[in-house]
Amino acid sequence: MSGQIPQRFLDDLLARVDVVEVVGERVKLKKAGRNHSGLCPFHQEKSPSFTVSADKQFYHCFGCGAHGNALRFLMEYDKLRFPEAVEQLAARLGMEVPREGADDPRAQARERKRKEGVNLLELSASYFRERLKMPEGDSARRYLADRGLSPEVQQTFGIGCAPAGWEALKRHLSERGIAEAVQIEYGLLVHHEDSGRTYDRFRDRVMFPIRDIRGRTIAFGGRVLGDAKPKYLNSPETPVFHKGRELYGLYEARQANSRLERVVIVEGYMDVVALAQFGIRNAVATLGTSTSEEHLSRLFRMVGEVVFCFDGDRAGRQAATRALETVLPQMIDGRQARFMFLPEGEDPDTLVRREGPEAFEDRITCASPLSEFLFDHAAEGRDLGTIEARERFASQVLAAIGKLPEGVLKSLLLGELSRRTGVDQSRFEALVAPVEALSSEPPLAPEAEWRPEDEGREARPVPGKGQQALSLMGRVLQLLVHEPRLVERLPEDDDWCDQPDPEARLCREVVRLLRAGGYRSAQVLLAHFHGTPEGERLAELARREPLVPRGVRGAELDNWVAYFQRHRQQQSPLEEYEALLSRMQAGERLSKEEGQRLNELLMELKS
Ligand code: GTP
Ligand code: MN
Repeated sequence: MSGQIPQRFLDDLLARVDVVEVVGERVKLKKAGRNHSGLCPFHQEKSPSFTVSADKQFYHCFGCGAHGNALRFLMEYDKLRFPEAVEQLAARLGMEVPREGADDPRAQARERKRKEGVNLLELSASYFRERLKMPEGDSARRYLADRGLSPEVQQTFGIGCAPAGWEALKRHLSERGIAEAVQIEYGLLVHHEDSGRTYDRFRDRVMFPIRDIRGRTIAFGGRVLGDAKPKYLNSPETPVFHKGRELYGLYEARQANSRLERVVIVEGYMDVVALAQFGIRNAVATLGTSTSEEHLSRLFRMVGEVVFCFDGDRAGRQAATRALETVLPQMIDGRQARFMFLPEGEDPDTLVRREGPEAFEDRITCASPLSEFLFDHAAEGRDLGTIEARERFASQVLAAIGKLPEGVLKSLLLGELSRRTGVDQSRFEALVAPVEALSSEPPLAPEAEWRPEDEGREARPVPGKGQQALSLMGRVLQLLVHEPRLVERLPEDDDWCDQPDPEARLCREVVRLLRAGGYRSAQVLLAHFHGTPEGERLAELARREPLVPRGVRGAELDNWVAYFQRHRQQQSPLEEYEALLSRMQAGERLSKEEGQRLNELLMELKS
């Protein structure tokens, strides 16, 4: 989707649409005076505190504070991004969404390319499905039947097969005017460097289309019919496919459940499909990678609970440890993560066939809550009868608790740890807040006592000769470059550095990379930006030792973040409104509070 949606179009759209109608299609409403009311879809309640006003074109819940216009309702209820919600409202009114900059030839070319890609992938998906019905699909059909996949479930997941030749798909697509370069770009065709020849990437395989959240095919996974290697072949990274963020089966799960509350993360394509065939329609699979932070943050936007399903072997335990690490920072109140382990030698596909769906559902129901898994994991292989083992147990648990955001879970776990070790909870609380408190660094040096508020005052430390003083955001960047693991203390929401200046932008990018995990050392971070102006900037920061000593850098960072957060709140209403709006138009989902704030600002500005 290219180009911004013009504000006047949004105004026009909202003027024409009726929020009562939009909400009424999804929530049972009763007319009550001038308003309509019903049970709030955004929190559990027994008596209605949710109202929709036709006059004001707003909904409001007196119970949970959910609040907004028709667009916001669609975003919240249907879990749509802003542009998608706009598209949907526009479609019901028969309006076409205009894009600013759509006349720009570059934007047009981009849009054309995107359509071309999507079109090509859809064409391929239906080609593969058609093959499965032809004589050439005999062996694939037999394979699927042998694995017990019903025709219905094959259809639900759009399963097909790639024929055995080298150029079948290539010919099919080329005849339809799709250039080979485009087929290569979207991962369907492979270019052999030495011979200069091109051939189909997927040959003689069962084909699973990977769909995005709106059901558009964005990639494929292909399985061999026998024991050849590689067993599975995935599309490479393409302009529309990033395997670290997509989940197989998510679209189908959302289709099958109008209100999806929980998803089960399994390992393989076959697991997702087999579970669905047996009526367990909320399984998703990562695409041969471990579960990433991005996977989880996407899932938690849609559901409150994630159940990780692992094989019972050592690899499974290891994967579970990784998943635990990844999920900890995301466990804000209201989210749940649980862990289940299958008997050794089984996967969900084999198990659901052997035990049946009820037994498998029972396993899901009995999956360990995160807290239980955390304690079990830390206790594993330790004889907690000894003081030394208990100490190591406690420090492992504390390290994990330190990664949790502030909230109920954190307090509960500290309480539980105290119960299990017999050590007073307040002692743990002191330990868990700043990891620094444990370090043996010298106490706070005098120059470190300087605070953001002092910026610009005479008394601040003088930077080394010939060096420019760092900007405020520069100091944050410097801390992150020197101690990447500090990223763990940053609030989940990046709004504190959501400013247009380049330093803040770089900071956001750095935070994103550090969060994504692969960048736990400064070298890797620098390598990522190598050869760019940003890289030079980071290298410069890396050469300059921060003024703040190692032991208190975390606390320092917290101060900066708090400072930026305070500073943000001093924006003018118009600035604040525009900042929120532009994030929304960029497709970002705002939090409830932010959405509410947006509406408040709108009222304020209109009055
Ligand atoms: P089946 O043998 O068909 O039941 O598959 P499985 O899902 O039981 O296979 P396995 O547990 O070996 O693999 C789980 C997931 O890892 C698969 O669904 C793939 O996403 C991925 N995977 C397995 N083998 C390969 C491979 O050879 N290459 C790649 N890229 N991914 C693989
Ligand atoms: Mn399997």
